[in-house]
Amino acid sequence: MDFRGAHIISVNQFGRDDIEKVFTVADNMELYAHRQRITRVLDGAILGNMFFEPSTRTRMSFGCAFNLLGGHVRETTDVKTSSISKGESLYDTARVISGYSDVIVMRHPQVGSVAEFSKASRVPVINGGDGSNEHPSQALLDLYTIKKELDFKNREIDGMHIAMVGDLKHGRTVHSLSQLLLLYKNIHFTLISPEELKMPAEITKKLQESGHSVLETTNMEAGLSDNDTLYLTRIQEERFTSKLEADIYRGQFRLNQAIYTRNCQPNTVIMHPLPRDSRNDANELDNDLNQHPNLAIFRQTDNGVLIRMAMFALILDIDDKVEDSSSSVSWYTERRFE
Ligand code: CP
Repeated sequence: MDFRGAHIISVNQFGRDDIEKVFTVADNMELYAHRQRITRVLDGAILGNMFFEPSTRTRMSFGCAFNLLGGHVRETTDVKTSSISKGESLYDTARVISGYSDVIVMRHPQVGSVAEFSKASRVPVINGGDGSNEHPSQALLDLYTIKKELDFKNREIDGMHIAMVGDLKHGRTVHSLSQLLLLYKNIHFTLISPEELKMPAEITKKLQESGHSVLETTNMEAGLSDNDTLYLTRIQEERFTSKLEADIYRGQFRLNQAIYTRNCQPNTVIMHPLPRDSRNDANELDNDLNQHPNLAIFRQTDNGVLIRMAMFALILDIDDKVEDSSSSVSWYTERRFE
């Protein structure tokens, strides 16, 4: 794909080459993310960071990534403080915010809302999560983390075994990650969830049709053995009709040190998109694994900054100008003005 000026709405836009390109640019961002080098390549550029649902990681890391490239960030963090609460349409909001920004990241509770918003935007829009549908930047950072963790073990993504655990029906991160993995070969998926919270059938069908093996089970301990990676998820309470309904499933699948040691191979990497629900009645990933060397959850969050810097660099076409940012107005400026 041509990243320059592109909206990033779904992982289905990417081919394997595109993913490799993002990962290569992300590798080059490490010195800047660690403050060992400074770039001002996006000096004067503005990110519109529009979050109409709660977020810590996605909002902050997109903002930090833009700042680390020298740009400025303007944010909306709540529907209540936005004129959307007065009935303003996504179309009008997109037209307005894209007049103030050079690129927009948007999170919204409705499936398809970011795609609709992007159609009216005059600048590139990145999907920061649309309801239970997709979270493309999370999938990229998850896959980047998986690749790095496998590299240590001289393993490749092709042929890997991954178990996804929890609320696979509502979890947009597992929807996007699974579909990104479609591009690889011979992956063994174990999908562990309550019967009512299974991975959507259209996604499992696509995985099977692409030659991957898929085992669906409600038995967590049986599904944990023989995996390179465990990808745990939270019960997505905000997608249920009531807290009471979410309570039915909360705490059913928990990983702690004892369960991990009893069932998993010693090298199995533990991932979670976060936030994990650390309340006693949930606790899907116990704090007693916090010091475990295979716990990659905070490597994931660190990698999120690199991936999001790479996404901005490619979309704004400055990936080869980061080292020499002396020229002014070097970012992508071809706005779609009427
Ligand atoms: N993983 C993720 O999307 O986290 P936030 O909801 O905190 O952004």
